[in-house]
Amino acid sequence: MTKAAAIACAIGAMQSACASAKPAVPLSDEAVRARADALIAQMTPEEKAAQLVTYFAFAIPGQEKLPDTRAAAGAGSFLFVTDPKETNHLQHVAMEQSRLKIPLLFGFDVIHGLSTIFPVPIGQAASWDMAMIEKDQSIAAAEARAVGIHWAFAPMVDIARDPRWGRMVEGAGEDPYLGSAVAAAQVRGFQGPRIGAPGHIIAGPKHFAGYGAALGGRDYDESNISDNELWNVYLPPFKAAVDAGAGNIMSAYMGLNGIPASGNHWLLTDVLRKTWGFKGWVVTDAEAVNSLKTHGYADSARQAGVRSLNAGVDMEMAFASAAFGNLPTALAAGDVTKNRIDQAVRRVLEAKIRMGLFENPYVDEAKAAKILRSPENLTAARIAAERSAVLLRNEGGLLPLDRVGVKSIAVIGGLADSPIDSNGPWVFAPNSPSTQTILDGIRSKLGASVTIRYAPGVKIPKRFNPTIADTMNGIVKRPEPADDTSGIAEAVSAAQQSDVAVVVVGEPQNMSGEMASRSTLDLPGRQQELLDAVVATGKPVIVLLLNGRPLDLKDTKAKAILDLWYPGSRGGDAAANLLFGDAVPGGKLPFTWPRDVGQVPLIYAHLTSHDPANAEKRYSNESNAPRYPFGYGLSYSTFEYANLKVDRPRIAPGGSVTVSVDLKNVGARTADEVAELYIHQRTGTAARPVRELKGFQRVTLKPGETRTLQFHLGPDELRYWNAASHDWVIDASIFDVAVGGDSTARFGASFTVGGQ
Ligand code: BGC
Repeated sequence: MTKAAAIACAIGAMQSACASAKPAVPLSDEAVRARADALIAQMTPEEKAAQLVTYFAFAIPGQEKLPDTRAAAGAGSFLFVTDPKETNHLQHVAMEQSRLKIPLLFGFDVIHGLSTIFPVPIGQAASWDMAMIEKDQSIAAAEARAVGIHWAFAPMVDIARDPRWGRMVEGAGEDPYLGSAVAAAQVRGFQGPRIGAPGHIIAGPKHFAGYGAALGGRDYDESNISDNELWNVYLPPFKAAVDAGAGNIMSAYMGLNGIPASGNHWLLTDVLRKTWGFKGWVVTDAEAVNSLKTHGYADSARQAGVRSLNAGVDMEMAFASAAFGNLPTALAAGDVTKNRIDQAVRRVLEAKIRMGLFENPYVDEAKAAKILRSPENLTAARIAAERSAVLLRNEGGLLPLDRVGVKSIAVIGGLADSPIDSNGPWVFAPNSPSTQTILDGIRSKLGASVTIRYAPGVKIPKRFNPTIADTMNGIVKRPEPADDTSGIAEAVSAAQQSDVAVVVVGEPQNMSGEMASRSTLDLPGRQQELLDAVVATGKPVIVLLLNGRPLDLKDTKAKAILDLWYPGSRGGDAAANLLFGDAVPGGKLPFTWPRDVGQVPLIYAHLTSHDPANAEKRYSNESNAPRYPFGYGLSYSTFEYANLKVDRPRIAPGGSVTVSVDLKNVGARTADEVAELYIHQRTGTAARPVRELKGFQRVTLKPGETRTLQFHLGPDELRYWNAASHDWVIDASIFDVAVGGDSTARFGASFTVGGQ
């Protein structure tokens, strides 16, 4: 491009020059800003306000052309457009019909894949494999970018400690250390080395902040979070995502300690901008500006827009009428400043400039078709499903099954043959047309040599399935009870005639996710009766779980339980490989699995308190012990830990130690182990948790192989937010160290910080 063309391009006067240009070499921050400011100088207040909205591009009956009208009027962004023809069409409208020819930014919920579907995020977290998570989100990004999407409303980095909350499935579970690692890996995967890297998209960590602490696990309910928990538990994954370079942040719906998050100046400006130095733009969750009225935090859409913008929101996500449409009149009345509006617009334009959209607004529709669901991407989805699986029980070494010995197998449960339920929430049929089910996977592995008897058993309850549009319109459908147990007899008979029964149970995918909180962890419908009846046959039973949270299987006597989460596009092959030992489970739980819903929230990193001898018996009728501890997961092999050592007995505050341990595969199979490091600070200027995860490594070891693992413990691992001094501190104390296969690992070494 000539210099003259570059200038013309910068001020939007000659779009043909921009559109035909090659992908730009990354511009300096100054050049990006200058280019944005050159545009801002030409914009009217109305055009600026339009840039600050992302609209749902749903076809509203009777208003099918609304997205075109909005694009022509200079709207900043759309969400929910995933067809490359449609992104190109709207982009053409923006580039050809809007006055300043500013390209659109397309955002979407690319949560666990676009067309190739990976396991749900809680499953990915259960892999404890950060390299895999990064790679898989980069595949998701490449598929999204190919259809014209530039920005993911992901990762969801909300810590979830109450499994009644349906959105636990979208995050990395209960722990801030694991959650931070997963958050950063996802951001790196989506964005690549920089914003605008080819084949990558912008990451938008959400929902800032505290959404996972919704009262009673009820979705959208208020969050009341202590200073201690906020800084030590709920904020760290966001900070990690910001430090990893996330270009966007989504503000949450609910009130945090009484102040709605999407109008919370302290959160969006003092913490995010001033303390953390976040440079990207903040978008609200859907309709969260208008809903400041619902919160009683604004008396009108106009006041809601003013409060939200002044708190630090840069872009509104709107369904119908944008509150930010009132910004020009608010500006005229002096309720918002030109500087603040320009700052928000600059952040949005800078994202578009960095993404190269002025030069390359369109996508190649033919190329998109080749990238989606490529064989390599589907292989990655299978590997991810295998590596996410968590083996919860394996009595008598029932698994893996002997391919030669098993002549007949009963596959039981409607979820075994339900593509939509293999994918999990946040997957939309047009994007992901065909998914293999567990039954498909077992059939294709075993072929004709083994008799496979499939029996759905019971009807899965009708889905609680409000679309976003339904929800916005207040239409909420509740699941109807499914009481038909007439298929249980057929399932029992299939089990009786077979060598082994695989029973697939869990939650249908949209009983997990947004607006899918439940007051029980029981299996929905009559699945428990089905499971119990099959177990009662005395045949060996393997339970495969499809779920996004811990479930209560009521002391089932099934011999084996393998958690597959919602395993995605190649969940069937993965399940078959795991069942027959062509893959070995190595995942570990990213949350504490309670025995009973009455125990929740139940976390491993709790504080000690009065009468510690009875700490396991805080209820008179129920132990505090979980069903499975945080970090738990079995293998087809066994591992031993020995020689736990800390390289130095004492360090000054701010110093570091190296912890080492020998890990040996003492079983007969090559397998993976996740070695987890926990610390316990014995005393301090605040009470500290009984243990905290501060390191982990997933390693593959051959039978008999020993590897010495090293872990670093430095200031980042040893400091914490002290709610009395309102600051980060490293206390002088003895720190105990444990390394093992779950959060019950025994403390076997220690070191001292401070003294002498
Ligand atoms: C959800 C967000 C999501 C948005 C757009 C909202 O209801 O809370 O997580 O990104 O919709 O689909």
